[in-house]
Amino acid sequence: MTAAGSGLEHEPEYDEAAIRFLEVLWGEGFLSPGGPAEVDRVLAGLDLAGKTILDFGCGAGGVSLHIAKTYDPAEVVGYDVEQPVIDHARAAAVREGLSSRVRFVAGSSGRLPFDDAEFDVVFSKDAMVHVPDKEWLFGELYRVLKPGGRLAASDWLISHDGEPSQDMRDYIAAEGLSFGMASPQRYLAAMTAAGFVDASAESRNAWYRETARSELQRLQGSLHAAAAEAVGEEYVAKNVRTWTAMQKVLDTGEHCPTHLRGSKPAGGPP
Ligand SMILES: C[S@@+](CC[C@H](N)C(=O)[O-])C[C@H]1O[C@@H](n2cnc3c(N)ncnc32)[C@H](O)[C@@H]1O
Repeated sequence: MTAAGSGLEHEPEYDEAAIRFLEVLWGEGFLSPGGPAEVDRVLAGLDLAGKTILDFGCGAGGVSLHIAKTYDPAEVVGYDVEQPVIDHARAAAVREGLSSRVRFVAGSSGRLPFDDAEFDVVFSKDAMVHVPDKEWLFGELYRVLKPGGRLAASDWLISHDGEPSQDMRDYIAAEGLSFGMASPQRYLAAMTAAGFVDASAESRNAWYRETARSELQRLQGSLHAAAAEAVGEEYVAKNVRTWTAMQKVLDTGEHCPTHLRGSKPAGGPP
């Protein structure tokens, strides 16, 4: 099986400039909003002690390292398809003395380079949006989970399965990233078809709608100088336009960041 998406065969979308810019906004090693607190919300109630964790679409490593430092897992494996983020994550793990408990694996957008039933928990933060084939994706995440394993993720969804509105098309064009957005209904159906039980989706639109508003204000105010120093005025101006376009579809609810949960049955098929 293959999946269309970004991969090492393409120019990176999250290149050095993108990493520097997003770190000014979201913190060292974080390429998605909310920082450690939002990661903790995704993982709320799960006991990760002694467990093996896959961080799918790990980016620059901030999330994987936070999980390793906070939850006492046996091992965290960060997986991503872009080399600059993997290089950044590996260097951060060495700097923080965590290389024995966290490793970062670079792959392509095809079959995941992991054995069946390798992980107790699959985590992902705002990366699945880059894989348009959700049915393939959840099939792979199910395959690499142990029976009884848990999926806990956050992702950027669209509220419906119809044609995106003009505002949504404008926002996606402004991002310029390979987004393959799908609705909560499609995610839940794909999870269930893969074999997950107790699949659930919880919208985080209300939180991110207000958080993004303050991110835009800070980009234009208190963070402006640091962002411009990191990536230049033009890059910041482009992102102010992107955030402005994003705010419209957050305010209408069409863009709905969402938390997802599912379980692989303990005694079911592999
Ligand atoms: C918005 S960033 C989030 C990174 C990280 N999870 C975080 O929260 O900081 C999305 C990540 O998904 C990765 N990605 C894109 N396509 C992917 C694929 N097919 N498989 C795995 N990761 C992918 C990108 O390279 C990028 O690092």
